[in-house]
Parts: sequence; structure tokens; C-alpha cells
Amino acid sequence: MMAEARQEAMPGTFGNWMKSVQAEMEAALASFLPLDTMTPAALHGAMRYAALDGGKRVRPLLVFAAGALFDANREILTRAAAAVEMIHAYSLVHDDMPCMDDDALRRGKPTVHVKYDEAAALLVGDALQAQAFLVLAEGRGDAARKVEMISLLARASGSLGMCGGQAIDLASVGVTLSLAELEQMHALKTGALLRASVLLGAMSGKALSAPEVSALDDYAKAIGLAFQVVDDVLDATADSVTLGKTAGKDAADNKPTYVSILGLEESRNLAEKLRNDAHRALIPFGGQAQRLRELADLIVQRKA
Ligand code: IPE
Ligand code: IPE
Ligand code: MG
Ligand code: MG
Ligand code: MG
Repeated sequence: MMAEARQEAMPGTFGNWMKSVQAEMEAALASFLPLDTMTPAALHGAMRYAALDGGKRVRPLLVFAAGALFDANREILTRAAAAVEMIHAYSLVHDDMPCMDDDALRRGKPTVHVKYDEAAALLVGDALQAQAFLVLAEGRGDAARKVEMISLLARASGSLGMCGGQAIDLASVGVTLSLAELEQMHALKTGALLRASVLLGAMSGKALSAPEVSALDDYAKAIGLAFQVVDDVLDATADSVTLGKTAGKDAADNKPTYVSILGLEESRNLAEKLRNDAHRALIPFGGQAQRLRELADLIVQRKA
């Protein structure tokens, strides 16, 4: 009965659903970011440049798809999705800086430090990070739940999550990592925020049972790792125009990646295996998890 009601709440094709979430996210981010007429206008303009009008919005899509499973409140979901996307946008701005990957192209546009300057890129990242937590803190609803969401996102972003993975990435240039070390780096630098997206979406709704949390977490870990495996494959196989960022950068920078360690064929096989793991984890949710299943497919089959 419940399942039917939820199925009806997500009619239409995956493509249309994706477009509507992406449009909703664009509007939400535009409203949660300070206007570029507010002082300091240059910083606010650069924050909006970094976060608006670009990107696949995979993390917000995961928040919304997981939220749909647990009848989540739309406003709480929107804030969670915007917060995680702001953290992601900040991570990209810093990832592209000369002290990190030194990239000039992002989302088909000049990177923030190229368009503005390095100090601006540093501050845009800092301010987007703070704004993400403000968006969560200022939402309506139960205070205890908000604290839980804030700490989950903080843990996924910090030294035990994304930043930790980025530190391992930078320390690994020219180093041959074992498969286990590579997996840990990927799980942190990319997996942590994707996993947080799924869990934040789920937490935005009614209380989860322990088996539900565990099944969702298995799904989230699989797609989190798959996402970076595919990112590595695309870096080696796609072109810069399609990617909207510089292709071939990992090999040029001597970064350890799934492609450099396993080769292309094995990396593709691994992504496929992780997709199957993700699908298997969703079995207990039946048809209600359709969007999460489609997102696992998108993450593995994407061309950019
Ligand atoms: C790129 O992420 C950086 C990684 C974590 C691999 P995305 O591929 O999600 O980038 P956008 O948001 O679509 O630009
Ligand atoms: C970046 O990994 C992960 C984060 C931004 C946290 P990459 O360095 O591979 O991302 P791209 O390829 O530049 O998007
Ligand atoms: Mg990087
Ligand atoms: Mg990079
Ligand atoms: Mg990459």
C-alpha cells in the first residue's frame, strides 16, 4: 500500500525526474547563496560562479532518490542536497588550485583561480563550506536531527572523509599504491560525500531501521567507489570538451588511479561489479528504490 503510494510519487521517466531535480537544485542553490550585489560582491559573485550553472548534480540526485524511500520532507531534503553540493563545489574549487591538481577547466568554464585569482579560489572554497553548514543549521525541523545531519556531513568532508582522501591523493603522486590503499583513497576523497548524500537523504525522512541503514550503506559504498573508478576511466578515455575538465590529467600528473593500477579493462569490470553490488544492496527496498537503481546505472554508464 505504502509502496504504491511512493511509486505514484515518482511518475515519469528517469530523465525527466533528473531534469526536475537539477532545476530545483539550481533554484535552491541560487537562493541559499548570498546575492552578488551583497558586500563583498566579488566574493559572492565568485561563489555563485563556482556553484551555479554547471555540474551533473549527482549528489543532490542521490539525496532526493534516498529521501523518496523514506517519505522525506521536501524542505529538509532540499537543504541537505544544497549543503552537500556546496561542499562538493568547494572541493572542486580547491582541487583545481595550482597547489593541488592545477587545472584550468571545470564544468566547461575557466576554474575559479583562473577566472579570478588564487586568493579568491581559497576564500570561495572556505565560504562555500561554511555556507553549507549554515543551510543545514537554519532549516526547519527537529534540532536533534539537524545536529546529526551536520555531524554526518562534517565527518564526510573532513580529515576522515574528503579532505583526508585529498591528502592521500597528493601524497601519492608517483607512488605505487596497493589496491587496498587505492580503494581507501577513493572511498575517502569521493566516496565519503556520495555516501553522505545517500544517508542525508534517508535521514531527512522517517526513522530508519538498522537493516535499512545497513542496506543503504552497502549501496552508498558501492556507488561511491564506482564513481571515482569511472572518473579515472573517463580521465583516460574521454576528451576535455565532453568532460568539461582537462582530460588525461591523471597520467600527466603521475597520479595513482584505477586505470594506472588495474588497466582500463579491469577498471571497467570493477565498475560493473560495483554496480551489481549496488543493485543487490537495494533488493530489500523493492520497486521503491527504482531511482537509486537508475542512479547506480548512471554513475557507471555516464560519459562525462
Ligand atoms: C568530479 O565530480 C570530482 C570527483 C569527485 C570525481 P563530478 O563528476 O560529480 O563533478 P560535477 O559536479 O558533475 O562537475
Ligand atoms: C577529486 O578527484 C575529488 C575531489 C574534488 C574531492 P579528481 O581530482 O580526480 O577530480 P577531477 O577529475 O579533477 O574532477
Ligand atoms: Mg584531485
Ligand atoms: Mg582534479
Ligand atoms: Mg579525476
